[in-house]
Amino acid sequence: MRGFREDLAGELKEKPDTAWAGQEIFYYEEIDSTNVRARALAEEGCPHGTLVAADVQSRGRGRWGRTWHSPAGGVYMSLVLRPDFPPIKARMLTLIAALSAAEAIRECTGLDAGIKWPNDLLINEKKVSGILTEMAASAGHIGYVIVGFGINANTDAFPKGLKIKASSLKKEGGCQVDVCSLIAAVLKCFEKNYDIFTETLGMEKLQGKYNGLLINKGRTVKIPRDGGTYEEACAAGINRDGELIVRRADGTLEAVYAGEVLVCGIDSLPPGSEK
Ligand code: BTN
Repeated sequence: MRGFREDLAGELKEKPDTAWAGQEIFYYEEIDSTNVRARALAEEGCPHGTLVAADVQSRGRGRWGRTWHSPAGGVYMSLVLRPDFPPIKARMLTLIAALSAAEAIRECTGLDAGIKWPNDLLINEKKVSGILTEMAASAGHIGYVIVGFGINANTDAFPKGLKIKASSLKKEGGCQVDVCSLIAAVLKCFEKNYDIFTETLGMEKLQGKYNGLLINKGRTVKIPRDGGTYEEACAAGINRDGELIVRRADGTLEAVYAGEVLVCGIDSLPPGSEK
């Protein structure tokens, strides 16, 4: 396989068959975090669709203040978006990113990547990708949104604590992944899905595809409640606002819009919490 480094400097620039996603590329062999760099570029006025990518991150950031293990072999990329819609709609970008990355992984590797709501990607019940979306907004107006994708593409080893829960495309598929083609595919899928989303500013036209890949669907999930407790319910799928619809034990439906929903059989309860 050709190195990511040479490819990104040259080939990827030619490759994205897109109108705006990744038309401007900033590539680093190593950086602290592509999301942090993307934010700085956004503050400097870079255009909608600017891509920041790196071979390695020294301080990769995950959701809920966690770190993202970012050794060589993974894909670390952030897109700068300048949406012209209200901030309340921006949380759906996370779902669009997850859908796009899942489609791109499936297309490039043939692996059965599924989505754990809202934006984790799993193969064989192990996490292979995560998305971190960050927004700068004021007075009801979005300045920019950064959508960061971390994909364990050719990652060979994981630290002890991650080993049971995480995997890579290479480990699951048994062969090396062409990361440039994967990045190009993520850009193309994201641009297409984003443009569809902006037609209605809802998930109605993407809901079917998203729910088709949703591993929560039909499974028992644990919904976070006050005081570190969880309530069990059955997940049905997302609605047009991107919320997860669950059926509670008493038969009532609830739309969950935030929080870390756990999937029984995949996730374990955080230490100190109760059912
Ligand atoms: C998660 O916790 O699941 C989200 C992980 C997001 C990681 C990506 S890697 C590229 C971008 N830069 C970062 O620092 N984080 C995101």
